[in-house]
Amino acid sequence: LNLEILKLGGSVVTNKNQPMSMNTAAINRIASEIATAGGRGLVIVHGGGSYGHPLAKEYEISNGYHSDLQLPGFSKTRQAMIQLNSILVNTLLDAHVPAVSVNHSSFIITNNKKIGEVDFKIVELYIKAGMVPVLYGDAVLDTEIKFTILSGDQLAARLAIDLKAQRLIYGVDVDGVYTANPKLTSNARLIEDLSLSHMKGMVKIGEALSTDVTGGMLGKVQEATSAVEAGVNVLILNALKSDYIYNALRGESVVCTRLRR
Ligand code: IPE
Repeated sequence: LNLEILKLGGSVVTNKNQPMSMNTAAINRIASEIATAGGRGLVIVHGGGSYGHPLAKEYEISNGYHSDLQLPGFSKTRQAMIQLNSILVNTLLDAHVPAVSVNHSSFIITNNKKIGEVDFKIVELYIKAGMVPVLYGDAVLDTEIKFTILSGDQLAARLAIDLKAQRLIYGVDVDGVYTANPKLTSNARLIEDLSLSHMKGMVKIGEALSTDVTGGMLGKVQEATSAVEAGVNVLILNALKSDYIYNALRGESVVCTRLRR
């Protein structure tokens, strides 16, 4: 099974600075790039952006339970993500990608924010049936802190490992990992080739702007580490630029950061 996992960041699928606002132009273009690239042997994971993050932050879902006042917030975060997922899946269907929504909050439990045992049989069977499962960062139950936010980044890395994916592509709103935050510094340089040892020693990747409760670029690289260790090719690229995703899915060369062992 030649499988790829594509994580679409919340900063790509939504307008991060405006609550509950889709980046319609971006998702329409990306859906047609996926369709033209073949649109099979693919799992899509998307982030929360301006749908998930503001609610998760308001109700402090990510650090677990401390008050009953958070309970509706857990559900509201889920509802917002279901809404975002539904728009994305419909967009993919309109582009003739056989996308199917997978509600993993109903079968994944974390142990202190980390996915423990999980059975991705359902995802695997969807792929084998020729469909494109679409999962997302979400509010999930946790064995130690009752609930938390499971980032799409962590989920995508785990899917890549468990399903033995060839490639894991993180589509974000910058060209990859920089020597400093490219949104704040003009002399930030793109790191095209990032090794595990370099990754581990890295402290200054530049934190994402806006209200990201799950760690920005540094968090992404940390989550990707386990996939790199498992032998998955990991790319971080700009999904807001035309044809980057298309080229990556086709295995053609593209400006990005490649993570390697
Ligand atoms: C977070 O998922 C989901 C919620 C906040 C509910 P991600 O951490 O993957 O989202 P982005 O890509 O940073 O927006």
